Amino acid sequence: MKTVLVTGGCGFIGSNFVRLICADPSWRVVNLDALTYAGNLENTANLPADQLRFVHGDICDRGLVEKILKEERPWAIVNFAAESHVDRSILDASPFLQTNIGGVQSLLEAARNHPVERFLHISTDEVYGDKEGKRASTEDFPLCPSSPYAATKAAADLLCFSYRRTYGLPIIVTRSSNNYGPYQFPEKLIPLLIRNGLNHLDFPIYGDGKQIRDWLYVEDNCRGILSVLEKGQMGSIYNIGAGEERTNLDVVEAICVAIADRLGIDVAALKKRIRYVTDRPGHDRRYAIDTSKVRAETGWQPSMDFAVGLKQTVDWYLDHTDWIAHVTSGEYRKYYDSVYSQA
Ligand code: NAD
Ligand code: TYD
Repeated sequence: MKTVLVTGGCGFIGSNFVRLICADPSWRVVNLDALTYAGNLENTANLPADQLRFVHGDICDRGLVEKILKEERPWAIVNFAAESHVDRSILDASPFLQTNIGGVQSLLEAARNHPVERFLHISTDEVYGDKEGKRASTEDFPLCPSSPYAATKAAADLLCFSYRRTYGLPIIVTRSSNNYGPYQFPEKLIPLLIRNGLNHLDFPIYGDGKQIRDWLYVEDNCRGILSVLEKGQMGSIYNIGAGEERTNLDVVEAICVAIADRLGIDVAALKKRIRYVTDRPGHDRRYAIDTSKVRAETGWQPSMDFAVGLKQTVDWYLDHTDWIAHVTSGEYRKYYDSVYSQA
């Protein structure tokens, strides 16, 4: 069995990745997760015990990371652990600096002392900044982050490559576009809209709603990450995206249609709940990446059409209302009020 240390494996993309690799009995995962508001042990429930060890802890705790590396001698580290939500980084950037930069440095230092074959760091297309009216970014484009979140992710990428050059660490970085699908915390656009739809709440749309994101189904991203882990070149960056560019208004309207179809209710009544609210400060109008490199070098390509993926995602949330209730029972209320009551 090949062991991988996955960090942040109880979050949205991490848990989808853990499920993907545990479907192959030749892999074993050690999942290090601090179980912040975004991490949930239920997200990896029912996986075979001999393939998954969970460690509750912080990536900033270098002693703990070194202990795990010494005990488990994993083949690779895949780092998903992060503070991941732009609006939270606008409210308070401190936890973002701590985990997204300090935590990455802790993992890099630990990997210096206990070498692994691959160190795959999960980054984002947001490091390239706003692409309105511009060409899609290839991996060599300059970094121009807009939000505190994106700035910490860009810093971490640079730190990773400094450890590659200085200490020869086997760094690979993926930068994906916006993900959607099962197990996404309902603070991000798509699950927030679906949750609000089910709870008879309004659909908050920032500014004019014409901002564009390239939506990638989470399982496509996870297959892409696995391809890069197995076939990617050391010291390389890989953009991963589906090329499914949609405005936020397109997205909210498609969600209204999917909910109306599934529940047999009037779509016009749902659409009346769309509310234009105060725009996010520094809001990027468009993200766009060129994904030729990952396609050419690993053979990966996305398989999910956005309309189909969105419908499946709406169905998943409607079938998992207990999960939504559970993950939104804690500090979610306070967060929601702090962002949306003023907007
Ligand atoms: P998420 O917020 O759903 O999950 C983050 C996970 O990391 C949680 O389980 C949390 O408990 C854990 N975590 C946070 N701080 C930690 C710490 N200090 N130590 C250990 N665990 C910690 O995030 P996500 O959406 O799954 O994103 C995963 C990665 O992918 C992040 O690095 C993010 O920047 C990147 N990314 C996300 C998207 C997206 O659309 N969600 C797009 C591109 C890149
Ligand atoms: P989000 O899911 O937060 O991802 P990101 O900001 O990392 O791209 O937001 C996606 C888009 O949706 C972004 O343009 C902001 C917008 N948005 C809203 O209009 N309303 C909302 O309530 C949220 C959370 C996001």
